[in-house]
Amino acid sequence: MNTAPVIVRAPAKVNLTLEVFGKRADGYHDLRSLVVPIALYDTLTLSKTGGDIEVECTTSGLPGGNGRMLPAASDNLAARAAVLLREAAGYRGGARIVINKEIPLGGGMGGGSADAAWTLRGLNALWRTGLTVDQLMELGSRLGSDIPAMVYGKAVCMEGRGERITPVACRWPPGMEWWIVVTNPGFNVPTGDVYRRFRTGLTSCGEIFINARFALERGELKPACAGLVNSLEAPVFEKYPLLGMIAERLKSAGASGVLLSGSGASVFALAANRDEALAIESQVKRGTGAWLWTRTVQVLPDGVMVAHGPLEARV
Ligand code: C5P
Repeated sequence: MNTAPVIVRAPAKVNLTLEVFGKRADGYHDLRSLVVPIALYDTLTLSKTGGDIEVECTTSGLPGGNGRMLPAASDNLAARAAVLLREAAGYRGGARIVINKEIPLGGGMGGGSADAAWTLRGLNALWRTGLTVDQLMELGSRLGSDIPAMVYGKAVCMEGRGERITPVACRWPPGMEWWIVVTNPGFNVPTGDVYRRFRTGLTSCGEIFINARFALERGELKPACAGLVNSLEAPVFEKYPLLGMIAERLKSAGASGVLLSGSGASVFALAANRDEALAIESQVKRGTGAWLWTRTVQVLPDGVMVAHGPLEARV
């Protein structure tokens, strides 16, 4: 096979808001969430094979990654995404998917979902299968609730189980940046378990949501910080008090907006600029040991440019 590989960057996400409503007949919960990509990426190198779908993944040095066995190819979300796209498009060849992970595993930042989402987008380019983003989002929704939002790849509101996606049109003033400190304690919080322990009636924040969306559209950080909400935070902090302590440390370091991302275990803090974020990060690091993984990265309301080099494709 002499086709050049397609290389794509799959950004992590945080949930600025996550309201969980009632449990549905299918066992999932209805939710509403503002999801934004951040500049923390897994990098996927996708190349054609004669027919096999192969996945190789490097996870060493990452929370949840050290010594962790990769799921068998058939269980891996990226491999399942490749198989699904191949079937849906009637494509006959295969692909080798090499994933260089930077996003902590099982951390509520959508790492596995990002890999599946950008496998769909990247292979659609490599195989020239020509599906639309909407079609790829529909395929993604069959694999996981977060995947449609991550296929879209920009700030969105997700509703239903996660499959109803409305783009949030961000018109930020020129030069406006939001920065974020993301932390991870190095252990996983099982998503299914968190939802099982969740009891409805805790949150319904119509006004807070509208204000948060408005702040995200305009790039206004202060009201966005005031609007941070996550229905899963209380039950998660109750079961894992260490995460609540990390949140408190971020606040004492001066962060005004601190929240659990998704179902955890990552806790993040928003900051108005890089220096402020780095100061928060270094202060939190001083108070904790090496066990706390942290990164300071930019928030990407408009997603990520993927055309950066000769091998990288616009997908
Ligand atoms: O869809 P995904 O595989 O990411 O979901 C993992 C688990 O999280 C589900 O099995 C379900 O228990 C829970 N979940 C939920 N409602 C959602 C999304 C996830 O109850 N909207």
